[in-house]
Amino acid sequence: MTEYLQNFPASRLRRNRQSQWIRNLVSENSLSVNDLIWPVFICDGNNIKEEIASMPGVFKYSIDRLNEVTDQAVDNKINLIALFPNTPNDKKDKNGSEALNEDNLVCKALRKIKNQTLDLGIMCDVALDPYTSHGHDGLLSDTNQILNDESNEVLVKQSLLLADHKADIIAPSDMMDGRIGLIRKALENSNFKDTLLLSYAAKYASSFYGPFRDAVGSGNNLKSDKKTYQMDYTNSDEALRESALDISEGADIIMVKPGISYLDIIQRLKKEFNFPTFAYQVSGEYAMVKAAGANGWIDEEKIIFEQLTSFKRAGADAILTYFALDVAKKINLFS
Ligand code: PBG
Repeated sequence: MTEYLQNFPASRLRRNRQSQWIRNLVSENSLSVNDLIWPVFICDGNNIKEEIASMPGVFKYSIDRLNEVTDQAVDNKINLIALFPNTPNDKKDKNGSEALNEDNLVCKALRKIKNQTLDLGIMCDVALDPYTSHGHDGLLSDTNQILNDESNEVLVKQSLLLADHKADIIAPSDMMDGRIGLIRKALENSNFKDTLLLSYAAKYASSFYGPFRDAVGSGNNLKSDKKTYQMDYTNSDEALRESALDISEGADIIMVKPGISYLDIIQRLKKEFNFPTFAYQVSGEYAMVKAAGANGWIDEEKIIFEQLTSFKRAGADAILTYFALDVAKKINLFS
C-alpha cells in the first residue's frame, strides 16, 4: 500500500477533508436504521412504564403497554426488538422453572405481539438468569457449580417454547457448551425450520452488565461471578474457537458482547468467518454515556453516533443498543 503513496506535497491527505461534501463522498462507513436493534424490558402488572434507575431514558413496560414499543419501532423503521423480562422475585426458583411456563412474561408478550401482523422481528434471549433465584444463566449444583449438560436440557425446552410462540430469533446468551447444536437439532426435529439462531458466541464475563441486572432484577440475587461460563476478557483467540463451534453447530448469526471494549473481537471474527456478526452495546456502556452526558462532560448525541459508527467500522452488521429508538428518530429526520 505504501508504494502507491506519493510524498508530500503531491500527497496531502487533508484535501479530502476540506469540506463536508467531500468528506461525505469519501466516507467509508455509515450508520443507518437498518443497523439498529432495540432491547426492551418487560414487566408484570398493568399500565406500567417505569424508568430503570441506572439507565435513564430506558423503561420497563407492562405487556398491556407494549403496543407503544412496537408502534414506535415500526414507525421508525426499526427491524428487530429484543425482549428481556423482569420476572417478579416470587416467581424465581433455583431451577428457573418460570422459563418453561407458557404464561411467563416473554410468552405473554409474544402472544400479544404476534397476534398482529407487524413488519417487525422479535428476538428472545435463551438463558435462565431472569428466572433463577441465584441469578445464574444455568442450573446450579449443590456445590454451586454451573451444570453444563443439565442446563442445556432446560435451554432446549426454553427454545422450543419460544419458537412455538413465534419468536423470530432465538438468542442463547448463556454460554453453555454445545447448546447451539442441541437447540438447532431440537428446532429442526420440531419443524421450526425458519427460526433464526443468534448465538452470543463471544460473550465476556464483564462488569459492564450491572445496570441490565438491575433492570431484570437479577443483580441482587447474584452472589458470585459468571467467569466459569462467560469468557475471560484477556482472551481473543478463544473467541474464534467459540464462534467456529457455534457456526458449525448451526448458528445463523454470531454476536460479540460487550461492545466498545471489544471492537477488536468484532473485527477478528468478521475477517475470519465473513459471517453475519452483531454487536451488543450493553447497559453499562449506555449508563456511562448517559451519566457523562447529563453532567455536561461530553456531547452525548455526538458520542452516541461516534460509538455506533465505530461498530460499523469494526465490521458489525447490526448493533443492539439502548439508544436504538433515539438514534432511529434522528436518522429518520435527516432522510
Ligand atoms: C443474560 C444477559 C445479560 C445481558 C444480556 N443477556 C446479563 C448477563 O450475562 O449477566 C446483558 C445486557 C446488558 O448489560 O445490556 N444472559
